[in-house]
Amino acid sequence: MAVIRVLSGIQPSGELHIGNYFGAIQAWVKDQYEFDSFFTIVDLHAITVEHTPEELRANTLSLAMTLLAAGLDPEVCTIFVQSHVSAHAELSWLLECTATYGELSRMTQFKEKGRSDESVRAALFTYPALMAADILLYQAERVPVGEDQRQHLELTRDIAIRFNTKYGETFKIPEATIPPLGARVMDLAHPTKKMSKSAKSRAGTIFILDTPDEISKKVSKAVTDTENKVRYDIANKPGVTNLLELFCAATGEHPSEVASRYSMYGDLKRNVADAIIALLEPLQQRYEELSEDPAEVSRILRLGAEKATEIAAPTLVLAKNNIGLVAP
Ligand code: TYM
Repeated sequence: MAVIRVLSGIQPSGELHIGNYFGAIQAWVKDQYEFDSFFTIVDLHAITVEHTPEELRANTLSLAMTLLAAGLDPEVCTIFVQSHVSAHAELSWLLECTATYGELSRMTQFKEKGRSDESVRAALFTYPALMAADILLYQAERVPVGEDQRQHLELTRDIAIRFNTKYGETFKIPEATIPPLGARVMDLAHPTKKMSKSAKSRAGTIFILDTPDEISKKVSKAVTDTENKVRYDIANKPGVTNLLELFCAATGEHPSEVASRYSMYGDLKRNVADAIIALLEPLQQRYEELSEDPAEVSRILRLGAEKATEIAAPTLVLAKNNIGLVAP
């Protein structure tokens, strides 16, 4: 039976938060035992917006430690830094030559981050071609991501299908796998906005390395509504619905069943905070241990890059050949 390959990525552009955890990482940890899994820290994507080199270096290593602490096991999956595998940048160019200006202009992430600002980097516009390269290089069939990446995955499929049709069978067509709960965790202080690494205030974001005290405070201050009825209703009760989703993403329960157990927002909030604290405690302990041994983390990333380079190479050769580039 052919092995099914999984690939997903995350930007080292700030601290990991529980949106990233529930939307993506939790599924990565499960997938690694079932599929041939590749997970990449996409540093080339992180430089498409304003950044500080020192911070980028520190964030890349800290993110690697967080992913390992969250349960990615280098014995069963491949973890690597995107810029360590030069095939990503190379294939990205071929895919930029396959994607159109029109389809890249329609990407909501570009519209949100880029708007019409003249100083926006050209690479923020072509960002989805690099993301398509990340996925297609490995012939990945499953791409575990949060809801906000769905549109990029649709574009990746369109680019792959166009390439295959024009130049001959080259890429497998991937599919986004999006979790039923926690695929779009909202900011606790602004429950109609997505929780994000780059939010202006930290008050509405629970970071993976937040202390129990910080988590309790943030959840207790989460914005709800004045109805004081616990109900799962995204349109009318975004704050309460977000809390129910967080609780269920952490415990595996069903939001409407959980809702029926509570009559007071205060009780729900306390239990949400406790569930998140309990989930993160072992992870934070492993992070502490790993941060004592950065050389080991670098070794894991080096080995990951070697494996990824080997797996990516034949697809890059095939794509170059099929598009008409002459082999050296
Ligand atoms: P990034 O770094 O913004 O986020 C990493 C993963 O976390 C998910 N996520 C969320 N899920 C639920 N609720 C939220 N509030 C939330 N915020 C983020 C994202 O959906 C994502 O799965 N372009 C990608 C990185 C990337 C990639 C790839 C992903 C580059 N190449 C190839 C998959 C395959 C990004 O910026 O994710």
